[in-house]
Amino acid sequence: MSFSQQQLKEQVAKAAVDYILPLLTPESIVGVGTGSTADLFIDELAKHKDKFKATVASSERSTQRLAQHGISVLNLNDVQSMVVYVDGADEINPLLQMIKGGGGALTREKIVASVAEQFVCIVDESKLVDQLGAFTLPIEVLPMALQSVSRKMVALGGVAKQREGFITDNGNPIIDVGGFSLADARELEGKINDIPGVVCCGFFALSPATVALVSTQEGIKILT
Ligand code: 5RP
Repeated sequence: MSFSQQQLKEQVAKAAVDYILPLLTPESIVGVGTGSTADLFIDELAKHKDKFKATVASSERSTQRLAQHGISVLNLNDVQSMVVYVDGADEINPLLQMIKGGGGALTREKIVASVAEQFVCIVDESKLVDQLGAFTLPIEVLPMALQSVSRKMVALGGVAKQREGFITDNGNPIIDVGGFSLADARELEGKINDIPGVVCCGFFALSPATVALVSTQEGIKILT
């Protein structure tokens, strides 16, 4: 019998809580990501809500789920340090570089992750890739820059498409860009970050995960 993707996600969510519990004190702030795997992590974290002080969430979706569990959610501006950030990914390579933003929360995810002492990425094995790029790269842009950024993406060799009917929590559209396949995405992430009108791109390569917990048919694998 093999585990379904949902079961693998449940297993890695539980493993993530086991992984972070020794790091937590009653004063700890936990950064919480967004997506179906992060949702399951929130549900597991709720079983231990007496072991930390509060969370910072990377989306309205996660804020609501945390609040439903009675977990305190702070504004990032009221937080000075964060012991850990836990989130899923759309792709992760052996360097622990990721593509994120399938759920559209990439900008807040990158901001919250930047404050945390470590980024624990939680994925099922379908997300593990040798090279990033089969998943289209999400880029959040200011509305007036949709066309100008799209043209720059085409000039860089990509195929750009606006995500239909979608606006981020920050009120901006997303462009999904296909056609990039990269062993090391750091240079391209820097180039895209420099394009006027780009709010955030979904490469998490300049600041990769600290550790990845990967749920496989053979159990949880820890990549560092
Ligand atoms: C949201 C994200 C998610 O982490 C990513 O899309 C993975 O989601 P899921 O756990 O549902 O597969 O980056 O912006």
